[in-house]
Order: sequence, then structure tokens, then C-alpha cells
Amino acid sequence: MKLKWRPPKFVIGLSVLGTAVGGIVLAKEFIGGSNYSGKERLDNKTVIVTGANCGIGKETALEMAKRGANVVLACRNMRKCKAVNCKNYDRLDILINNAGVMRCKKSFTKEGFEMQFGTNHLGHFLLTMLLLDKLKESKPSRIVNVASVAHMRGTINFADLNGEKSYDPADAYNQSKLANVLFTFELADKLKGTGVTCNAVHPGIVNTDIIRHLSYANSWLANFFVKPFMWLLLKTPRQGAQTTINAALNENLVNVSGKYFSNQKEREPSDQSRDKAIAQRLWAISDKWTDM
Ligand SMILES: *[C@@H]1O[C@H](CO)[C@@H](O)[C@H](O)[C@H]1NC(C)=O
Ligand SMILES: *[C@@H]1O[C@H](CO)[C@@H](O)[C@H](O)[C@H]1NC(C)=O
Ligand SMILES: *[C@@H]1O[C@H](CO)[C@@H](O)[C@H](O)[C@H]1NC(C)=O
Ligand SMILES: *[C@@H]1O[C@H](CO)[C@@H](O)[C@H](O)[C@H]1NC(C)=O
Repeated sequence: MKLKWRPPKFVIGLSVLGTAVGGIVLAKEFIGGSNYSGKERLDNKTVIVTGANCGIGKETALEMAKRGANVVLACRNMRKCKAVNCKNYDRLDILINNAGVMRCKKSFTKEGFEMQFGTNHLGHFLLTMLLLDKLKESKPSRIVNVASVAHMRGTINFADLNGEKSYDPADAYNQSKLANVLFTFELADKLKGTGVTCNAVHPGIVNTDIIRHLSYANSWLANFFVKPFMWLLLKTPRQGAQTTINAALNENLVNVSGKYFSNQKEREPSDQSRDKAIAQRLWAISDKWTDM
């Protein structure tokens, strides 16, 4: 018997559309990378995450809480960071320096530091120094610094570190991210044998932070043609958090320190980020400017 019935055209249309949408969703999952698969628990452990009010930081903090941790949400502001330190923690197992500003126009923190250098680097430098004893007491413990692949384009402009003479939003961002990686490696060296590790991660390019800083994001043409592609290629905050989560939890990394990760894998950072002389000079200035 021959099958006479054919599905009406709109049903075929719908099924093609469904397949296309499914394919796009799968493609986005594929491009964005997989979820961290480890099953580590964090019961009775304390985790501090800076910049946890939105984006990657929020996803990271939620994941830590799901695994039983006592999660402390910290702020990006230096004075508030000092306040965090006054609170009583029995222990501190994981410090995630995540907060960041990206390519903002020229502005300064209340302390007078160029906004990106001050927030992305100096604030975390200070917070980490204040919490170091607690981390050592709680060993094995970890510090994860959320840097960026942008560090590869960065240079530390010692002649004008604070962007007073000249300022370019992208250059200042690259500089602050290189500072994150230099700080990570220098600190990892200083922490050898203490049971505290320190690693840097590149979260990927995540849609929340980047779109609002790109000038063309406001034209309707860009909205129509560029944004869908960006949506496909950029990571969601959850996807962006996975490399941080891996560095913070993966039990295989318990003794791994002074490394740089991207897509949950160890990667080569820039040559400059391994330059000891630059790292030490930056450290000395950071130490002085944060008034330790
Ligand atoms: C990753 O986890 C999220 C939520 O926890 C889930 O919605 C998503 O489907 C997962 N992705 C994959 C590829 O398993
Ligand atoms: C967490 O702490 C409580 C109270 O001290 C203790 O009873 C429990 O066994 C601890 N859990 C883990 C997984 O260490
Ligand atoms: C900073 O990085 C951006 C891209 O991430 C690049 O366009 C810019 O040229 C970089 N700045 C320098 C000084 O290389
Ligand atoms: C980490 O180092 C400790 C002490 O040296 C050792 O006992 C442990 O097996 C190491 N763990 C891993 C996963 O390498």
C-alpha cells in the first residue's frame, strides 16, 4: 500500500526550522566549551569571589555554593576590600580574583588610580596580600586570578603606569591584564612550599562584558548583522566561568601553581608575563601604591 498522506508544507517548514535552531544551539554549546566535569565538594570550605554580582563572577560563585561552600562575595572597590578582611572567617580555601572593568573611558578610582589598573590589578593585589595568612593557615588552598588573552598584547608602561600622560582604553586594559598574569607568576614563586597555589585564567570572550564597550554596538545595522554572529561566537557567562572553576576545584591541579589556563587547559602565556625583572618592578610599585 502506498502512503498517500504527505505532511503539509508548514510542518516540513517547522521541522527544518526546528533542526536549524537545534543545530545552532548545539553549535553554541560546542563553540563555548564544555562544563567543568569534576565532582569535587566544598563542604565547610570558604571561597571568596570578587565581582560576583554579575556575569562570570556570579556563575562562579553559584557553582561554588552548589558544591557546599560558604561563599563570600567581595567587591571591586579597594576600601570595601579592606572591610572584607575585617570579617571573621575561620578559614579561606579559595580566593577568586575575578572583578574587572574593561576598556572604560579615562577615569580614576577614589584612591587616584587609573580605573582599569586600579580595579583589575591593584585592588586584587591588596586583597590578596591581606588574605594571604588566612590562605596559608587553610592549606592546601588556591588563588585564581581571572586575567585575559589580552595580556599578550599588553605592555607595562612604567613611564606612565597610571595613564596620566596618555590614555587608551584598550591599551590600559591590556596592561591591567598583563599585570594580573605577572602578579600571578610572581606570587606563585613567593608561595612555593606554602601549600597555596596561584594560577591565572583566560575566561574566553564573554558576551556580557564586551558588547557594551564596543562603539558599533549601538547602530541598528550592527544589531542586525553582527550581534547574531557575536552571540554564536562569544561565551555565555556560564561558559566563561568554566576555566576558573576548573582551576579552583580540579583535584589534579592541587600542586599546580604559576600556570595560565584557557578553555580548562594549560596554555603558554606571553613571554613578557614570564619576565622576572618586570614582575618584580611591578610588585614593588604595587606594594608601595597600596601602602602595605
Ligand atoms: C552545562 O550546565 C548547564 C547548567 O548547569 C546546562 O544548562 C548545560 O546544558 C550544560 N552544558 C552541557 C554541554 O552539558
Ligand atoms: C562540616 O562541619 C560539620 C560541623 O563541624 C561537621 O559535622 C561535618 O562533618 C563537616 N563536613 C565535612 C564534609 O567536612
Ligand atoms: C590591546 O588589545 C587590543 C585587542 O585585544 C588591540 O586591538 C590593541 O592594539 C592592544 N594594544 C596594544 C598596545 O597592543
Ligand atoms: C601533591 O603534593 C603532595 C605533597 O608533595 C603529594 O602527596 C600529592 O600526591 C600531590 N598530588 C598530586 C595530585 O600531584
